[in-house]
Amino acid sequence: MTLPPAGTELGRVDAIPDPGGRVADWPGLPIILARKGDEVRAYVNVCPHAGRPLNLPDGRVIAHAGTHLICPAHGAIFDILTGKGDGALVGGDALKPVPVRVENGLILAA
Ligand code: FES
Repeated sequence: MTLPPAGTELGRVDAIPDPGGRVADWPGLPIILARKGDEVRAYVNVCPHAGRPLNLPDGRVIAHAGTHLICPAHGAIFDILTGKGDGALVGGDALKPVPVRVENGLILAA
């Protein structure tokens, strides 16, 4: 797994549903960008339940109850801000974080 080099542009904050997520604009590693208000996180786009991506065909990741992302394959949910799984499908397994920072509305690899 190769993380994007620091400074790589991964997307725009205003292009991410709030709350929710979407696939990053970077082809090197499947990454999703997740947002809840002004907080943005990035995770490797591999669900720890059965390895499927969390996004829908249009690139969006759906929010659950305003606080979690939901995997469309079997319904596992993950805290938007920590990536930690919740519920029987994934127990405490978490999405793998990708370090990012926000600068002038752009999400950059950190
Ligand atoms: S692969 Fe995500 S819930 Fe099963």
